[in-house]
Amino acid sequence: MNKTESLWGGRFTEKADETFVEFNRSFNFDKQLFAADIEGCLGHCRGLENAGVLSSEDAKAIRKGLDLLLSQAAQRSDFFEDSAAEDVHSFIETKLNELIGDTGRKLHTGRSRNDQVATALRIWMRGAVDEVLRRIVNLQSALLHLADGNKVAVLPGYTHLQRAQPVLFAHWCLAYFEMLRRDYERFTQTRARINILPLASAALAGTSYPIDREAVAIDLGFDGITRNSLDAVSDRDFCIDLVYAASVTMMHLSRFAEDIILYCTTEFGFFTLSDKVSTGSSIMPQKKNPDSMELVRGKSGRVFGDLIALLTTMKGLPLAYNKDMQEDKEAVFDAFSTVRDSLEVSTIVIQNISVNKDQMLKAATSGYLNATELADYLAKKDIPFRRAHEIVGQIVLYAIDKGVELEELSLEEMQTFASEIEKDVFAKLTLEQTLNSKSAIGGTSNLAVNKALSEAKKYLADF
Ligand code: ARG
Repeated sequence: MNKTESLWGGRFTEKADETFVEFNRSFNFDKQLFAADIEGCLGHCRGLENAGVLSSEDAKAIRKGLDLLLSQAAQRSDFFEDSAAEDVHSFIETKLNELIGDTGRKLHTGRSRNDQVATALRIWMRGAVDEVLRRIVNLQSALLHLADGNKVAVLPGYTHLQRAQPVLFAHWCLAYFEMLRRDYERFTQTRARINILPLASAALAGTSYPIDREAVAIDLGFDGITRNSLDAVSDRDFCIDLVYAASVTMMHLSRFAEDIILYCTTEFGFFTLSDKVSTGSSIMPQKKNPDSMELVRGKSGRVFGDLIALLTTMKGLPLAYNKDMQEDKEAVFDAFSTVRDSLEVSTIVIQNISVNKDQMLKAATSGYLNATELADYLAKKDIPFRRAHEIVGQIVLYAIDKGVELEELSLEEMQTFASEIEKDVFAKLTLEQTLNSKSAIGGTSNLAVNKALSEAKKYLADF
């Protein structure tokens, strides 16, 4: 291990216990923040220079050193190896000092690792959110593409996992499209709260140097600055926001995965999953398993775990910074990479799925999914809906007993239950009519779904 400079040597007479040193370290995971922290360092350096705290000569040397570190990290595969640094911040400081000597030691003027880490994390996280946003849109366009290519397909809609009413397949696709639209909105709102600069809050009380914080914020691409230094160094709401947004998205993806897994079973047979995203069994040669979707469903659990971990870590902390907060990063990193990868895999699944229209049609047209239509028909003949419901219930019972669908009963048979039923009833019981009667906005009629599809296309065109 390389030697690393201690950040607090002066006050200490005893050497730290080796086991504790390892326990205290976060470098193994927070090295992910390297580029973000360098960006924050560069902003702080310019802030110090503009405040007249750093000479332009020193600032130039520091900037050069930081830039060099960035290119070394990109070029050398062993750059991060063998470092004994406690965290990424001390790592950068040690490396900078190795490069430019004592001038490097001026960079920490007016700054603490407390505002430094909060700044680096926010810089890293806004980039992470942008990556998630892109993948949400990709999945939305894959869904829209699938819906567009299967406009005439129908499937049974379920409640209680019992066949309820038929819906257009595109309507099913658009349901997930809507969830993802809200996810996008949630991540965007999260990004706005992330993108506030805490730098120059220093350890907890603020900085005693005349740094123009607003100028530094603009320089670093932040939308604003924090208003209270105590809060700024100890706030991790923005981490919780991100992991919450990731949790809701994972919950949506998990439901999506569950639908797909179910619809790919032999029992349903609505979809066939591509070999590209399936696995086989080591013993049962006939098997094709939807591992991709099972993992998406399974991984939602770990992201919810990250959320609970963060909330629990934060709940008892007194103001301001406490080392407990070092635990924030793994939860954020894990939630981010899990939601990013789950969105990507779900997109690949959608791009490669085949829709078995005939099987879906068969399921959508058997099992009395048009019974509500018949009740509505009677209600329109001025029979109170509750009474109509009961009559149709009796007709369904009769049809089940006979082993036929409602439209396969004769007019005379139906009239024994309600004399109001006339010949025009058969037109009401068709699949087309059952679908197209749901013509209000948000319903599953052809017209409403086509409108929803064009609206969705317009929405995506703006990206
Ligand atoms: N690695 C630390 C963290 O992630 C950096 C901040 C350390 N600050 C301190 N006062 N010990 O929280």
